[in-house]
Amino acid sequence: MDREAMSNEENYCFDVAGYLHIPGVLNRGEVKALNEALDKGGQSEGMLRWDSPLRDVFRDLMIHPQLVWYLNQIVGYGFRLDREPELLCDETWDVGAPLVGGNEPRNPARAYYFQNGRRYCQAVRAIWALEDVEEGDGGFVMVPCTHKVNVETPEDVATGEDDMGLTFQPALKAGDLFLVAGTVLQGVRPSKGTRRLLSYEYVGRAAIQSAGTGPMVAKDPSPEWHAAISPEQRASLYKPDYEYSTPPPVVVTDGETVKLDESREVFHPSIYSRDPNSNIDEKEFYFWELNGYLILKGVMDEEWLEKANGAVDKFEDRIVVQEELSRGSKSLAGTGRPVLGGLLDLPEPYCEPFRKMVAHPTVQHRLTWMGGSGARMSGPSAFCSVQGTSGHALHDAGEPMYPPMGYQFQNGRSYSEAVTVTWQLRDVPPGLGGFACVPGSHKGKYPTPPGVRSCDDHMGLAKQLVMEAGDVLFFADGSTTHGTTAWKNPIPRRGILIKYSSRSFHRSGGEMVHPWNRWGDDMVEGMTDAHLAVMRGTDRDARDYNVPRLEVKDGEVEVSYERGQALYSGEAPATPVVEQMRNRRGR
Ligand SMILES: [Fe+2]
Repeated sequence: MDREAMSNEENYCFDVAGYLHIPGVLNRGEVKALNEALDKGGQSEGMLRWDSPLRDVFRDLMIHPQLVWYLNQIVGYGFRLDREPELLCDETWDVGAPLVGGNEPRNPARAYYFQNGRRYCQAVRAIWALEDVEEGDGGFVMVPCTHKVNVETPEDVATGEDDMGLTFQPALKAGDLFLVAGTVLQGVRPSKGTRRLLSYEYVGRAAIQSAGTGPMVAKDPSPEWHAAISPEQRASLYKPDYEYSTPPPVVVTDGETVKLDESREVFHPSIYSRDPNSNIDEKEFYFWELNGYLILKGVMDEEWLEKANGAVDKFEDRIVVQEELSRGSKSLAGTGRPVLGGLLDLPEPYCEPFRKMVAHPTVQHRLTWMGGSGARMSGPSAFCSVQGTSGHALHDAGEPMYPPMGYQFQNGRSYSEAVTVTWQLRDVPPGLGGFACVPGSHKGKYPTPPGVRSCDDHMGLAKQLVMEAGDVLFFADGSTTHGTTAWKNPIPRRGILIKYSSRSFHRSGGEMVHPWNRWGDDMVEGMTDAHLAVMRGTDRDARDYNVPRLEVKDGEVEVSYERGQALYSGEAPATPVVEQMRNRRGR
């Protein structure tokens, strides 16, 4: 490989979604040789031990230079083959079985680790496409982002009974390489005809997974004296990588006794137990935790929709066309965004359908488990894009993380400090514009690539969400990368957008940021600008230098009012405030 390291785009894709599609790694001749060897071999597994020269192409493929180059960066140096290669098909897989994987409970030997720019994904499946696979062909399927999910897989998602639209079947061309994190929920579904996908599974150098298949593996290397000790004691003395110890023996204990559990299911007690009385719909919680957004169907009824739409129609002349927000994107370019604000202040009865959205129990309930109680809302605004209105370049992300708008998960709780709720007053069909986001990006640890921001080259990661009138959308707006695709629908958009901020952080700042308002005139009397910089009240923290702050230059403390790129609250001063304070007194 000419490049030193994976591009940010590649890192971002694998980090956010748990897979990476590398097109055209094998040329036609190589694909042909592999297919011919498979035809001659006539089996769907065991290729590495076939007679030479049939096996040679499969042995070489195991250490294909491009694959090694990627695995060194994804798994880490010293990665190793865990299982013999196999074709992903009906013969090697139970295609009716539930998907396997997911990150809860965590399996450390297969998990995705990332810290301080270093990644160790302990298990990776490398799939080589030897034939074209189109969308809808079936075969290998997966649920993106599940390598980081903190919630147990709902049964319906694993069986496909109700997969909540989450299952993804990648389309591949012969010669492509597709890498999938081992903990991604995955499996093989019935496929239309044969679609040759050759799979090799790799793991970290120290990760204990499968036993090998050689004759020694069947041995029990325990010394004879083990016959004289209890089964539980023998279980503590097992040696890994033999059949008898794969999976490892399990001893269950209550602290008084020890007992061998023949099922060998992991026994790993927690100090917490799942709360069936939490009043949280567990599939909703899974979807939110996995993707960073959630759609509730049919919250508004026909009558409510009619009143809300009627009110927007009535005050159409108050719609203000705001700035164009495509930020240099080719695919999102268009005209400015038309917005109608002040909906709660409209005269009776027009304000009613919007006031009904305030503290509505259906929405309040979700907000409370998404970020805890105490959230406060902005005034709702109606987004009324017309055909030709620009999209809004995708913005916000898990990286860089900043506390006031971040997403964290701990001990069964979602901590989303900023949530936006959008009430749909009209249908949002596919492909005609509207809200779009990158599912899973709330947990991203690599910077958002420019092509994802602009949607011009988003690697299939950005999704425009399809909704119906009456649906309500929630998204973790500070951390889930989101925006809007250009409006192509002849019927104008009608989305009522409300931003919620958690009890823990200020989103915009207000008059209480001023030291004299916060502390009183007598307290701040005679203070310098440097003093006043630390006497300020709660303000917006928008990642950048957007508040007056102290800096030390040549041993002296100075106040800087220099502004960065970020958004400012209306109250943020751009110049020294002592004078401002004096002028205020002089009034
Ligand atoms: Fe936004």
